[in-house]
Parts: sequence; C-alpha cells; structure tokens
Amino acid sequence: MLSYRNLEVLTMKKEFILITGANGQIGSELTAALREYYGSEVVLATDIRPPAEENGLFEILDIRDQQRLAEIIRDFKVTQVYHLAAILSAKGETNPRWTWQVNMEGLFNVLESARQHQVEKVFYPSSIAVFSDKTPRNNTPQHTILHPTTVYGISKAAGEDWCNYYFLKYGVDVRSVRFPGIVSYLHPPGGGTTDYAVEIYHAAVEEKPYYCFLREDTRLPMLYMPDAIRATVELMAAPREQIRVRTSYNLAGMSFTPAEIYDAIRVHYPAFQISYQPDFRQQIADSWTSSIDDSMARKDWEWEPEFNLEQMTADMISNLNKLKTLQYV
Ligand code: NAD
Ligand code: SER
Repeated sequence: MLSYRNLEVLTMKKEFILITGANGQIGSELTAALREYYGSEVVLATDIRPPAEENGLFEILDIRDQQRLAEIIRDFKVTQVYHLAAILSAKGETNPRWTWQVNMEGLFNVLESARQHQVEKVFYPSSIAVFSDKTPRNNTPQHTILHPTTVYGISKAAGEDWCNYYFLKYGVDVRSVRFPGIVSYLHPPGGGTTDYAVEIYHAAVEEKPYYCFLREDTRLPMLYMPDAIRATVELMAAPREQIRVRTSYNLAGMSFTPAEIYDAIRVHYPAFQISYQPDFRQQIADSWTSSIDDSMARKDWEWEPEFNLEQMTADMISNLNKLKTLQYV
C-alpha cells in the first residue's frame, strides 16, 4: 500500500464516501484507491451507466437528478463527495446544451445537497480547459485571465466560482484542482482533447502506426494517473486552514508535444510510426496553455509530482504489456 500524506488523520474518523461518474477514466481508479484506504463498505460508486464489473457498493445515479442525489447523501450519511461526473472537452462540443446541463446542474446539485446535508468535504476536478488564448501560455499563473472557449471549459470555470461561493457563503469545504490531461492504462479516456496521449501508447504496444489528431508541436500539460490519484487524496486530507485557494488549484506534472511522446516511446519501440492528421480538437488544444505554475499547491498542501515523461512511458508500456499478456492467457 502506498502512503499518502495526512491520510492517517483522515481515516481515524468515520467516513462514508460517495463518488459520482465513478466508471470513467479517473473514477474507476480513484474508487479502487479509496476502497483500499477506507474499506469497500464505506465507498459508494455511482454513475449513469453500470460498471463493467462490480467490486463494491454501486448505484445508478444521473447527476442531474437532484432528488435521488439528496436521498443517497441522506440515507448513507455521506461525509465526503468526489464529484467526477462530467462531459469532457471534445465530446462536449458535440452537444453544448447537454454538456452544460450535466456539468453545471450536476455540480449545483452536489453543492446544494452537500450544504443541506452537512457533507464535510467535496472534491471537484476542474481542468486546464478553463484557460484560453488570452491566458499566459507558459508557466500559467494560479490567478490569471480565463475566458474559456469550449462549453466544457466554460462550465469548469463557472464551477470553480460556484465552489468558492459555497465555501464563502455556506462554509461547504469544497476542494478542487485543475487537472491537466490525465494519462493512464486501465480505463479508456472519455472524449477529451488530451486523449491522444493515452491512445498513442495502445498503438505502440499493439505494434500499429498511430494517427495523431493533434499537430506534432502541440505542447500541453499532462499528469500520470498515480500522481492524479495522489493529488486528490492528499488535497482532501490536508488540514482545512491550509487550503487557501477555494476556486481551484493549478496542478502540474509534465508538459510535452506529440513529437516528444513519440520519441519517448521509440526508445522502447524503435519501429513505431506516427503521422499527424489534426482535426477539430487542434483548435481546442491551441486555446489551452502549455505549462502550469503549480507553486500554490506545492506550498499549501505540499504537492509534488513523481512521474516525468520517461518514467511514465516506461510504466505505461510495462503495464499495457502485462494486460496484453493476460488477454491471451
Ligand atoms: P470520463 O468521461 O472518463 O468519465 C466521466 C463519467 O461520468 C463516465 O463514467 C460517465 O458515464 C459519467 N457520466 C456522464 N454523464 C453523467 C450523468 N449525467 N450522471 C452521472 N454520471 C455521468 O471522465 P474522467 O476523465 O474520468 O474525468 C473525471 C472528472 O475529471 C471530470 O469532471 C473531468 O472534467 C475531470 N478532468 C479529467 C481530465 C482527464 O484528462 N481525464 C482532465 C481534467 C479534468
Ligand atoms: N483531458 C481533458 C480534456 O481533454 C482536460 O480536461 O477534455
């Protein structure tokens, strides 16, 4: 078991944890991590669709259904909510109104239920999608110009302000990070602009060429899943008075371009081939920033990433190969 800073303090209390959007790329791994630390009997996973396999408590929950959400929070005496349900950037552009409803009404339902039922802590993942071409592109500061141009980014930016509002007005202890693109091998990503950085590893391990939907020089901030899980758990375990940013913390792991990740993979697969076929996601990526100043997270709750591009690449390839072997057993 990994050790998380301050977690012992948190686990001494009786907790009941609710996760929304638990079947997604992050939710599936966060649920497993929280079950490992708190015990399966106090972690309830929910999603609008059933899980591939049930490994603990699970309920179908459409996050737009305020009444059902409130019932669950009341009946299970929920103390912490990890609100992950959302429609991501690229998928969100296919139906802006639906995206706004899921992302915005969903968050509002969570904040309101948390207020009414005295939930002790709420986790809300925001995103680098809150930034735009008006934002300083390199080493993007914590407090800066936003003006996002996707419905996903608009909903996340508004969501950050609502989190701050519920903290200031009602004392709801909402904590948030602006996740960069998350790279992982267990569960496929759900329709984001950074998905290429996962797909490319699958292509390499399957020894197929990769057709990249972004230009080779598109530099974006990224984070490996183990670091994303650790950031979430450590932020939630930090003492309340240390959390000075109540909108959302900038969070950084690494930044790279498709050409750089390709080079890192070729160390393991020298014959791997890539070609670039930018589509509508290029415009979304161009509106985001390329590297992030996360000094406030480092200062306030001692955030520190562990994986760089080379370490992540070695780990991704090793784990994808293990999964491939298991498939053929
Ligand atoms: P995902 O798309 O993989 O998972 C989202 C989950 O939400 C899915 O399982 C989906 O079924 C569920 N969902 C969709 N509509 C729902 C509804 N109406 N009610 C309940 N559940 C619903 O996304 P993810 O990558 O796991 O992201 C989780 C959170 O982290 C999201 O809020 C996302 O904005 C944020 N985030 C993710 C990344 C990333 O790179 N993965 C980066 C920044 C922020
Ligand atoms: N990875 C996410 C996306 O591309 C960023 O929030 O939508």
